[in-house]
Amino acid sequence: MSPSTRNFPPYELLEELTIDDATRKTKRLERLYDLTREHAWDGRAVYAELVAAHGPPGSCVEPKLRAPLSRVLSVLLWGELAAWNISADLALEIPEVDAKMAATAQVFDEARHFTVLREYVRALGPSQKIGGFPQRLLRKVVAAPTLATRLVGMQLLFETNAVVIFRGLGERGVCPVLSGLMPYFERDESRHVGLGVLYLPKLIARMSRSEARSTARFHAECILLLMASGFTFREDFEALGLEQRLMADRVTRMQDDVIGQMIAQHGDGVLRAVMNPRRGIGPQVLDFIHPPGGLGAAKPWHQRMHRGVTRTLGRLDRALA
Ligand SMILES: [Fe+2]
Ligand SMILES: [Fe+2]
Repeated sequence: MSPSTRNFPPYELLEELTIDDATRKTKRLERLYDLTREHAWDGRAVYAELVAAHGPPGSCVEPKLRAPLSRVLSVLLWGELAAWNISADLALEIPEVDAKMAATAQVFDEARHFTVLREYVRALGPSQKIGGFPQRLLRKVVAAPTLATRLVGMQLLFETNAVVIFRGLGERGVCPVLSGLMPYFERDESRHVGLGVLYLPKLIARMSRSEARSTARFHAECILLLMASGFTFREDFEALGLEQRLMADRVTRMQDDVIGQMIAQHGDGVLRAVMNPRRGIGPQVLDFIHPPGGLGAAKPWHQRMHRGVTRTLGRLDRALA
């Protein structure tokens, strides 16, 4: 008798709790689609209104801030294109209708984000190619081998970082056009995280031990690439008044919250395949990269080592580009 026959009929499908639970999760995924429809905004119109009110991006940003802003926004721009491609892949590949609807809704949002941000970056002036580390991270996630790894890369890493950087840029008031745009982006990105929270645990529950291990390894490699990229943006973030420790704290807090929600909904089996940067050695790594009170307040050995790592990663970033 085959295993599937041995388990027939699947009596658990009659249990009220199982049905209630599945219905609740399906409704929440469907709700993501409805929310996208309700909150859809006209990218071209919003951008045109903001430019009419404040002038084009190049004119409303202090000249010395244009280059750092352009470098940070270029990475976000390619992140938007990656998210567009990945969400389109997910919409095609996910078989369940509810999650497919949520991914389809995300495709529309990401398409709008990319085109609006591209207008802005172009108006800001000539933009450069991105460094080797962010380029590798984007390529790694776009070409990730499984649905689960693409979800981990996009929903747990890209979305959480994008939300925090968008919020930071909006708060700093670097440019009124950007400050006007960012809340729209932030609201959409916060909603996108929901697909990962609701769908990723389903995929993890079906994984073998080795699949779960390789998903966790993929996640860890992406985190390392993200940290290496962070070193190369230090000066740009400083120039823009974005405090990296605060941003890293917000990102990891958000990831901790996302993983917490997954555990609350589906149990701690999800930890087989995803890493939580706020646990284990995460806080020590954060203190090394972004010392409390700033690098100037760190011990002399820490400052020396930090400068050495920054120099080496900067060279590698340029060499790999
Ligand atoms: Fe986006
Ligand atoms: Fe997104």
